[in-house]
Amino acid sequence: MKLIEQMTLEEKIGLLHGDGFFQTKGVKRLGIPPLKMSDGPMGVRHDFPKASWIAKGLSSDYVTYFPSNTALAATWNPELAYIFGQDLGAETRGRGKDVILAPGINIIRHPFCGRNFEYMSEDPFLITKMAPPIVRGIQENDVAACVKHFALNNQETNRLEVNVEVDDQALEEIYLPGFKACVDEGDAYTFMGAYNKFRGDYACESTFLLQDILRGRWGYDGIVISDWGACHSTDQAMEAGLDIEMSVTDDFDSYYYADSLYQKVMDGIIDEALVDEKVERILHLMEHIHMLEGPRKKGNYNSYEHQTNTLITAEESIVLLENKANFLPLNPDDYQRIAVIGDNANRQHSLGGGSAEIKALYEKTPLAGIHHYLGGNHQITYVQGYSCEADVTQDQQSNLRMTALRMASQNDLVIFVGGLNHDFDTEGKDRQSYQLPFGQDRLIQELHAVNSNLLVVNMSGSAVDLTIAKTYSKALIHTWYNGMEGGTALANVIFGKVNPSGKLPFTMAKALIDYPSERLGEFPGDETVHYHEGVFVGYRYFDYEQIEPLYVFGHGLNYSQFALSDIEKTENEETFTFTMTLKNTSVVDGKEVIQVYVEDEEPKGKRPIRELKGFKKVFVAAKSEESVTITIDKKDIAHLSQKLKFHFGFSSRDIKMII
Ligand code: BGC
Repeated sequence: MKLIEQMTLEEKIGLLHGDGFFQTKGVKRLGIPPLKMSDGPMGVRHDFPKASWIAKGLSSDYVTYFPSNTALAATWNPELAYIFGQDLGAETRGRGKDVILAPGINIIRHPFCGRNFEYMSEDPFLITKMAPPIVRGIQENDVAACVKHFALNNQETNRLEVNVEVDDQALEEIYLPGFKACVDEGDAYTFMGAYNKFRGDYACESTFLLQDILRGRWGYDGIVISDWGACHSTDQAMEAGLDIEMSVTDDFDSYYYADSLYQKVMDGIIDEALVDEKVERILHLMEHIHMLEGPRKKGNYNSYEHQTNTLITAEESIVLLENKANFLPLNPDDYQRIAVIGDNANRQHSLGGGSAEIKALYEKTPLAGIHHYLGGNHQITYVQGYSCEADVTQDQQSNLRMTALRMASQNDLVIFVGGLNHDFDTEGKDRQSYQLPFGQDRLIQELHAVNSNLLVVNMSGSAVDLTIAKTYSKALIHTWYNGMEGGTALANVIFGKVNPSGKLPFTMAKALIDYPSERLGEFPGDETVHYHEGVFVGYRYFDYEQIEPLYVFGHGLNYSQFALSDIEKTENEETFTFTMTLKNTSVVDGKEVIQVYVEDEEPKGKRPIRELKGFKKVFVAAKSEESVTITIDKKDIAHLSQKLKFHFGFSSRDIKMII
């Protein structure tokens, strides 16, 4: 007899709702285990008791802390995304979980969204290339990925209730492609329904999103799990296509998919066949990941290999924004006394941010990374320079500043590491200001006045105003919440052991008002937020309106010089294929990202000037060249006319050739 035929209605329903904050019920007598889940996008979160939000406090749940999704996106390297997925999947399994609540792939629509650091990019194409390999990598370990948050979850303000209104074109071209790719190319086993509403319906009750699009048009046969507390009904959610209800209260029988569902089936309001459909899907998933029958992969966590991989990713993610007169890389012999200043030089971030928090086995800060690199042959002095405490007085803040200035004036070099932290880049609230907090701009200016050998490092998960930092520094680096080896990676870039190759996955504007969601659309809106900017998200808007950003989408310098030549195009029914030569004319080995943007010369209506439709990261040894092939799938440009131009460059505005 089939498993489902042996199950009582009550047992079936136990599979459809949380019976613990991170697990369903399971049916012991039939050998069906509970489905165990865990956050999240930067590693496997620590354990909680079944019905408490106070961590167990184990010594066995320290894990590898991976670079954030924004960092991963900034590598523009799908192979690293795949390796990250494999490692995260192995750690998930190693920790005894079945579903990892990652990756988060919502579009970065506005720089204030508190969860931007958990997401990837303002550009859907970059997401479609970076997210599916994560999903595949995870799922090769006999665990399921959970792609989140489906869909239109682009802000934290009023996140549980806000209703999103966006036109069909933007939905199709901007907000959905990443999710679709996780179905088509990632073969994701689970999706997480978002908190917010879309066109009046909660995402977890939206027939349009779950039934028409996800299951209907995309043919998704996996499971939809609600975000925690995102389910608001029994009938409507059941009908719309939500499979599992998870929530945040410990009265598990009171969930919509618990007693109430049982009663409604008993009363004939909900057909048991609908329950069966969901149970079948869940059993199918359990089979897929070998929960019902082995052998099942065992996974492992905290391996040296995982730690090394976090370092490689962190190194490739760091974006060199500015490098005046080739100030970087620094030769340690040139600077004996180094002042390291700024709160982020010495702050660990892993335990912050909300559900993406990580109990890291260790986390190397920038200061630790610099110490390691220089190995005791230098005099390194650290001062904080400013306090991040809410109750700090003006006097205390100015004392910290004065100390920093004194230090700066007495040293040969100043490395300032500032930016945001997880009080700003965090789940549950959005940022309020585009400026660097805690008077960092003033401090940077004053540091420059006393010591012009100033390197500024900004660490944040979102764009911030770096106008002052750009003006007053000799070099400017952008780094991320970059995993347990983030500090090592940063030092390796600063001192030239690693040639940086990260590229911005979002636009850094000169002013907040330059962002389309700020100027045209609404953010954070009220009960409803209208995405009036339509498809003109990020660089699509800046290019169209000819607004000069501070740093454009796709920007990132390196220590080499590259030249692109000999681009040739061939075409068949399905693809355009371009071959080209990438030359490294410098004496430093390096990696460059060739980016291909498509321009429609005969657009139907108002269209973005150019849109990313292909890219490749290529390593070229010093004084050598590589031949490179980039293929563009015609499906990705089916909505454009036949009259196309292809722009090839090293950023969205550093275009080297157009054909
Ligand atoms: C977040 C999800 C997370 C879940 C479980 C929710 O508040 O939005 O991303 O996976 O909590 O912790």
